[in-house]
Amino acid sequence: MNDLRYGVIGAGMMGLEHMRNLRLLEGVRVTAVADPHAASRAWASLAAQEAGDPISLYAQPREMLAREALDAVIVSTPNATHASILQPILETDLHVLVEKPLCTTLDDARRTVEAADRHGGVFWVGMEYRYMPPVARLLEELRAGAVGRLRMLAIREHRMPFLPKVGDWNRFAIQTGGTLVEKCCHFFDLMRLLTNEEPVRIYASAGQDVNHLDECYDGRVPDILDNAFTIVDFDGGARALLDLCMFAEGSRNREEIAATGDAGKLECFIPDSTLVIGKRNPRSIESRPIPVEQRILEAGFHHGSTYYQHVRFQRAIREGGAAEVSAHDGMLAVAMGVAAERSAATGHPVEMRELGF
Ligand SMILES: NC(=O)c1ccc[n+]([C@@H]2O[C@H](COP(=O)([O-])OP(=O)(O)OC[C@H]3O[C@@H](n4cnc5c(N)ncnc54)[C@H](O)[C@@H]3O)[C@@H](O)[C@H]2O)c1
Repeated sequence: MNDLRYGVIGAGMMGLEHMRNLRLLEGVRVTAVADPHAASRAWASLAAQEAGDPISLYAQPREMLAREALDAVIVSTPNATHASILQPILETDLHVLVEKPLCTTLDDARRTVEAADRHGGVFWVGMEYRYMPPVARLLEELRAGAVGRLRMLAIREHRMPFLPKVGDWNRFAIQTGGTLVEKCCHFFDLMRLLTNEEPVRIYASAGQDVNHLDECYDGRVPDILDNAFTIVDFDGGARALLDLCMFAEGSRNREEIAATGDAGKLECFIPDSTLVIGKRNPRSIESRPIPVEQRILEAGFHHGSTYYQHVRFQRAIREGGAAEVSAHDGMLAVAMGVAAERSAATGHPVEMRELGF
């Protein structure tokens, strides 16, 4: 089996996480990295040295694509750059994994979906939260009927504020798509996956109450929402709630999911890494630890999910299978985020059909 040769575009926090995780996998090698920022290239070079694999470094993705023989590329650049970086790649047969959010605007997302539909390789949107082991186990139990008919889904993320980024790109909604796109696309994607239904209406109440208010960039204060409740009605009657707080370092768990149906309730907790299976009749509650290998936990900041996502991405490439998270899924997650941002700004619920869905 020949190693698959991967190029990484954007070697910041997430690009390096991809490199560390790819190192744990058999059958793949990162052979090239493109990043205009010299310090990021230096970090990538160090990561490659630790892996014992030589890599070529480029300042521009275009140069890397022209010169390197690659099988796949990872796009882990700032959100607003995804659309333009993807366009030339989608004219090749290279397999692609692009970090979430697919794009920051619906126009860009639609253009990218059209290009991805014509593209010959696997096109995969990085939705790592699907691959956190406790979430994956919750999905398995849900599909096996553990709660009966799912009626309510509650997702809570209570975490620390956004970290500093190269060039401070994540301080302004114009570059991120806004918190409910940038951050919450993960959770909107999970809502569609877990309910197996499509969103029809979204209402969000959100604000920037605590974080980044004392920061200033070229005379401007960041405009990042740092807390929100978002309610989503689905076409099969399920309803979902996202409870996001980004000044919640005092939380025991960062992510908590509760999926409740007519027969029972599933809950998972991260990083506690537990799944709780509750039944109504006869009433029972069972708590199961979901262990994750330490070397996999240590390769990233997402509870092992980046590793497991890469296992599946590689399998899709080798077996010629479809991406588990398609461009269409990426676009829907952006669309739900755009609807939530619009609702938060206007105070009114937004129908997905207003956005063309
Ligand atoms: N899945 C997740 O949970 C998760 C977590 C964090 C970040 N992300 C996503 O990963 C992406 C990168 O975020 P990050 O946290 O690594 O940011 P970062 O600022 O740490 O790194 C971004 C890197 O991209 C480089 N870059 C900028 N423009 C470029 C271009 N045109 N070509 C090549 N490189 C370019 C920057 O120099 C920097 O090194 C974003 O889309 C972000 O939303 C996903």
